[in-house]
Amino acid sequence: MKAIFITGTDTGIGKTFISGLLLREFNALKLQTFAIKPLASGCYSSSSGSLKNEDAQYLQAHASIKQPYVVVNPFALKEPIAPHLAAQEMGINLSKQAVKNSILSSIQADADINIIEGIGGWAVPLNDEELLSDVISELHIPVLLVVGIKLGCLNHSILTYKNILSTRVPFIGWVANCLVPNMPFIKENIYTLQKWINRPCLGIVPYHCESLGHIQIQEILNFLLQ
Ligand SMILES: Nc1ncnc2c1ncn2[C@@H]1O[C@H](COP(=O)(O)OP(=O)(O)OP(=O)(O)O)[C@@H](O)[C@H]1O
Ligand SMILES: [Mg+2]
Repeated sequence: MKAIFITGTDTGIGKTFISGLLLREFNALKLQTFAIKPLASGCYSSSSGSLKNEDAQYLQAHASIKQPYVVVNPFALKEPIAPHLAAQEMGINLSKQAVKNSILSSIQADADINIIEGIGGWAVPLNDEELLSDVISELHIPVLLVVGIKLGCLNHSILTYKNILSTRVPFIGWVANCLVPNMPFIKENIYTLQKWINRPCLGIVPYHCESLGHIQIQEILNFLLQ
């Protein structure tokens, strides 16, 4: 399975932004790309009446392989709340098996790379017993952690890193996403993370960076090929 799971230190820290940069980088290398957001909460009613999510549409627009919306986002949940609660509101009980099946049927075997965007952070409940991270570790999908560089990110990153390690899922590395303009001591924070996270920092993406080349794409590809 040629897939990577994009998780983050929190919601709203740049998982979609970095997924977009990665897709553009992979597309520029003429690789066939596909991207999914298996679970999305905070969906709007589209003109056709179906629920759609902006992240999923962004991924759909940036992937080179085109598929219908439902393949990109099998669980489109209306309320902008935790996914298991948004699902309950719609009479849906999320389960590890159902999410696993949806990922396996959505990812594209002919893609050189499938990007799977998580939801929220790493430890996201599907119900009272199962987490989305259980699905990813059972499927053994390599994980890339997006660290939103802001106050509090050291705690979030180190906790997330330690939990990823404990699940024994392959961990590719992390990207420092500088989503706060002019954050003080930004270099020192990134340096501290490099000391605490024993996997490569695959890129430092500056604030409002739209250009390519800041993420070590080749290192990601080498990891997937090994
Ligand atoms: N490096 C950056 N520079 C400037 N703005 C950024 C950067 N990274 C992310 N953003 C902005 O921060 C916001 C949150 O980013 P994004 O939607 O990618 O987060 P997310 O982790 O995918 O959120 P969600 O949990 O909702 O999926 C967006 O408005 C995005 O454009
Ligand atoms: Mg997102």
